[in-house]
Amino acid sequence: MIRIAIDGPGGAGKSSLAKAVAKRLGIIYVDTGALYRTIGVYMLKNNISTSDEEGVSRALSNVNLELKFVDEKQVILLNGEPVGDEIRTPEASMAASAVSAMGKVREFLLMTQRNIAKNNSVIMDGRDIGTVILPYAEVKIFLTASPEARAKRRFEELVAKGIETTYEKVYEEMAERDKNDSTRAIAPCVPAEDAIMLDNSNLTAEGTVDAVIDIIEKVKKARSKKWNGFYAICRAIISFFSRIFIRVRFTGKENIPKEGSIVLCSNHIGIKDVFLIGISYPRQLFFLSKKEWFSIPVVSSVMRAWGAVPLDRAGRDVGALKNAIKIAKEGKTLAIFPQGHRCPGINPAETSVKSGAALIAYHSHADVLPVCIKTKDVKYKFMRKIEVIYGKPIKYSELGFEKGTIGEFKDATAKIFNEVCKLGGYTALPEADGNPETGEAK
Ligand code: DC
Repeated sequence: MIRIAIDGPGGAGKSSLAKAVAKRLGIIYVDTGALYRTIGVYMLKNNISTSDEEGVSRALSNVNLELKFVDEKQVILLNGEPVGDEIRTPEASMAASAVSAMGKVREFLLMTQRNIAKNNSVIMDGRDIGTVILPYAEVKIFLTASPEARAKRRFEELVAKGIETTYEKVYEEMAERDKNDSTRAIAPCVPAEDAIMLDNSNLTAEGTVDAVIDIIEKVKKARSKKWNGFYAICRAIISFFSRIFIRVRFTGKENIPKEGSIVLCSNHIGIKDVFLIGISYPRQLFFLSKKEWFSIPVVSSVMRAWGAVPLDRAGRDVGALKNAIKIAKEGKTLAIFPQGHRCPGINPAETSVKSGAALIAYHSHADVLPVCIKTKDVKYKFMRKIEVIYGKPIKYSELGFEKGTIGEFKDATAKIFNEVCKLGGYTALPEADGNPETGEAK
């Protein structure tokens, strides 16, 4: 799946660009501006002033909007009736701009837009797609052009549709809308932090499509890159020695997704976990590791090469979380041990777990891959048999996220870790032979 967000001011050519890219890639094009236009036109038709925020908010309870795709073409049903070109007039544009600044209207349209991208590859254009609607989009482009170029294009578009107007009028209206859209308090039209800026003032429509396809190809290539050279060498060496000194069996490797954002969650027995997962996982692993490791010179370099991100376990390390989310967002695999620390000798089903993995999955829109490392008594002993079991991925849509609340993170964490435990058949520890509190052997 790929989600492409195209944001930018009116007249930059977002919709024709998105349409052409959708056609080339065979994916759905979602024109979100049409939703705001539909609301604006509904208000105009029902004599509700688009400057009366309370009136507009109240009227929304009478609006039922459905977004459908017929032969890959977007159809909006307003209270059951398909909307047509009446949403394309200059009056509709001004009404859309006014209602789109209202929080209640944006809230009303939020899930309609997000739901489409849940199970479909989409290219969506608008003002806040990369920042609010699909912050996890794989490709974000902020398309712009000079006000003159944009006004000229919009003027020609309107004339072609037989709408009577002048270039000056279009320019003035566009400047006013630009100001409204970019200075409003809620979801202003600004580029996302990770958006790629594209100014197409001097590009033809075809040239703009080519430039965007080029960007998408580059992103796809970077996302499908398995690992860097140093990682591959380290992995081969560790793999060689592990197979001599460790009796390990890997099962369920066919469940590992070949690409896409993954948060891998495993139980944590000891330091070997990272390497056992690393040598069996066919893509580069990134993981959070306590920052103390990074103060030891050689260890620090190896850890970084192995994809470790330093984590301060003393408090809530926002920087580390941001890094982790960024990694997962880029289509990579982030490995997390929800138990937070090594728990040798303790039945994983009886440990407490932290919600960081769920939080990262939520923000990166990643699927979760449960993994269970199983040894007799949940402990590593020399030449003892170890099993690394990969479960089926839990899809992002199965994690029950809606608003990203703490309660949702807790529920998702329980679901994830339950899967981890189930893989190893862990409910109660059958033959514990040590101190389950400390993990000490007898
Ligand atoms: O892209 P457009 O001209 O059809 O958009 C109509 C209005 O809707 C525009 O003034 C900005 C607003 N809009 C928005 O606020 N957020 C979106 N995602 C899309 C459009």
